[in-house]
Amino acid sequence: MSVFTTDKKFLARDLPADDLEIVKSDGNFLFDSKGKKYIDFLMGWCVGNIGWGNKEIKKKISRYKGPDYVNPAYLYKSWAELAELLAKITPGKLQKSFRATGGTEAVEIALQAAMSHTKRQKFISIEGSYHGHSIGAMSVGSSDFRSWYKNFLPDCYKIKPPLDKKAVDKLEALLKPGDIAALIMEPIICNLGVEIPTQEFMTRAQALCKKYNTLFIIDEVATGFGRTGKLFASEYFGIEPDIMCLAKGITGGYGGLGATITTEEVAKSMEYEFSFYSTYGWYPLSTEAAIANITYIVKRRKQLEKNTNEIGRYFVERLSNIQFKYPAKIHAKGLAIGVIFKQAGYSIEVATKAQKNGVLFSPLNDKICTLFPALNIDKQTAKKGLDLLELSVTD
Ligand SMILES: Cc1ncc(COP(=O)(O)O)c(C=O)c1O
Repeated sequence: MSVFTTDKKFLARDLPADDLEIVKSDGNFLFDSKGKKYIDFLMGWCVGNIGWGNKEIKKKISRYKGPDYVNPAYLYKSWAELAELLAKITPGKLQKSFRATGGTEAVEIALQAAMSHTKRQKFISIEGSYHGHSIGAMSVGSSDFRSWYKNFLPDCYKIKPPLDKKAVDKLEALLKPGDIAALIMEPIICNLGVEIPTQEFMTRAQALCKKYNTLFIIDEVATGFGRTGKLFASEYFGIEPDIMCLAKGITGGYGGLGATITTEEVAKSMEYEFSFYSTYGWYPLSTEAAIANITYIVKRRKQLEKNTNEIGRYFVERLSNIQFKYPAKIHAKGLAIGVIFKQAGYSIEVATKAQKNGVLFSPLNDKICTLFPALNIDKQTAKKGLDLLELSVTD
């Protein structure tokens, strides 16, 4: 049986698989089973921030000699090391990490920690956003999810972008009754095609959360580890969240891992009275990968930030000059890039043609394409990929 047939028969999917069997990854490139080489402008959707096949990290993982598995109740040096590392690099007073397997679980823990800390049940989030696919994470995601299941968290109010003065006024009205556990949002919303809040929105949102004893949960699952041109997108706004969710780029693709980092006070409220448990949260090999990946990024932080911003500007310039068949707006911060089309369905047409021509990115929905190239991509590869993209809309 071909992979396609076996996949179709045994793998549950919401949509049929792309006709693309990946067999190898290297740097900015993916290779399919027919030997075709693709420029990867997706990097697993904000996963491979430093490119595929990083020798330093792979060497560290292959030389690992520690335990196969450690029960969550025991001490394990690398857990302490990773938690300390996260506390050092994240903004404000974030200090204690909860161990998770990925982004959804990190968000789930954040929601539970906010409820246990505030003794409140309600949330506010951004309309159309995405924070994962568990019941809790979908409750704070797009309202569209609400039509699927009945047992979501009962109250999650939504703020509609643009995130400006009007939006923050609405936020204040929602916070005023004093019954909201937390506001949860991506600092720069990759899941809305790189929607960037105004400084006023973020500064006032932070102050209002403090005023009404509501926690501010920042979801940096997609934006974290350099994607937007700073280690964390929160740094652009000078905000100090009470809880931050991390995953994806935390290991660079060399392991599965998520983290929910909170202030000391928030972590304290999860002790004894509440419980949490994750069998594979911070699996030893994934922890090794996360430490190696973060160390690599932090050591080259300035250089990566510079490249991300320079090449990011080049993407914007090139994309703005492409003659798409329908009007397009470019939203970008660093190498988080959204192309928003007026015409429904066009994003899928563009991404499909581009894939045929050898450059990969995927439509976020029927109007938006998102591009997340590696942060250390060189200009020549960026140019080649953009040339192929341009060819895809003009041929
Ligand atoms: C902002 C954000 N939060 C949470 C998640 C869920 O992460 P995971 O797929 O690792 O569960 C995603 C995934 O795309 C995301 O983009």
